[in-house]
Amino acid sequence: MSDNNHHVLAFYSRHPISRDQILAGVRARRGHLDGLEPQDLFAYDQDHYGGLSVVDALADRAHIGSSSQVADFCAGLGGPARYLAHKYGAIVTCIELNPHRAPGAADLTRRVGLAQRVRIVRGDVMRVPLAAQTMDAVISQEALLHVPDKRAALSEAYRVLKRGGHLAFTDWAEHRRLEKADCESMWRGIAAQSVQSFVSYPQMLREIGFRNVTVEDLTADWGRILEARFAMYRQMREENVRLGTPAGDEEFYGSYARLVALVQQGTLGGGRFTAEK
Ligand SMILES: C[S@@+](CC[C@H](N)C(=O)[O-])C[C@H]1O[C@@H](n2cnc3c(N)ncnc32)[C@H](O)[C@@H]1O
Repeated sequence: MSDNNHHVLAFYSRHPISRDQILAGVRARRGHLDGLEPQDLFAYDQDHYGGLSVVDALADRAHIGSSSQVADFCAGLGGPARYLAHKYGAIVTCIELNPHRAPGAADLTRRVGLAQRVRIVRGDVMRVPLAAQTMDAVISQEALLHVPDKRAALSEAYRVLKRGGHLAFTDWAEHRRLEKADCESMWRGIAAQSVQSFVSYPQMLREIGFRNVTVEDLTADWGRILEARFAMYRQMREENVRLGTPAGDEEFYGSYARLVALVQQGTLGGGRFTAEK
């Protein structure tokens, strides 16, 4: 495995959203973990910008309904997959690379009784262990930035989709070319391997063979969410300094500050990309 992959794996192995952190949040609210239902986790298990409403938006764009076969590329702890199974009755296969997150997702799914509808597969979205033309929809959220070869991942989405199936994903995208120093900062801070642009992503999708490609610019929404998150991190950091404990991950903090600035300047943003096979 390359050093790049190690960095992405390490980033998510020490990420603040983990199976244990989700269960700790649920336990603090309910007092115990007996008889958990999917909705008990939803406040904690969505590792993307915008919570459940943006999963609804993806479900809408990808035409997900009852018994749709869905693949979630880079599924994290399985939060969006469980929501799609619970709310829409979809059958979801999660592809997740991280050796802690994949079993964490499976454990959370079992605990809420969704193991029949949500399957967790540890794997790499550049080589998806699913048969061709088996999926009605492929989704992904805030994850392809970590994947070195996005064309390979999107080609895999095309391969596993049935004809007429839909792809809908959100990801970081450039409005203007990022400076090399900013790419390096995003790599060190948030394990972003590379970022496509609002022009290159749709072009890549068409080259792969997708049709009816659409782009929605989510930059303004992401800007507001990032600012709120950054304020929270700043507060946590100041609290740590006040308590005399180490401030922690300086690299992450510095990179996050730069990320907020890049979004506010309009250099970088978020997009929702939709396409049909
Ligand atoms: C920001 S999280 C998103 C999780 C999930 N989509 C959600 O919204 O809750 C990104 C996830 O992508 C996974 N990941 C990164 N590279 C991957 C790859 N090549 N194949 C599969 N998963 C990958 C990471 O381990 C991480 O769990």
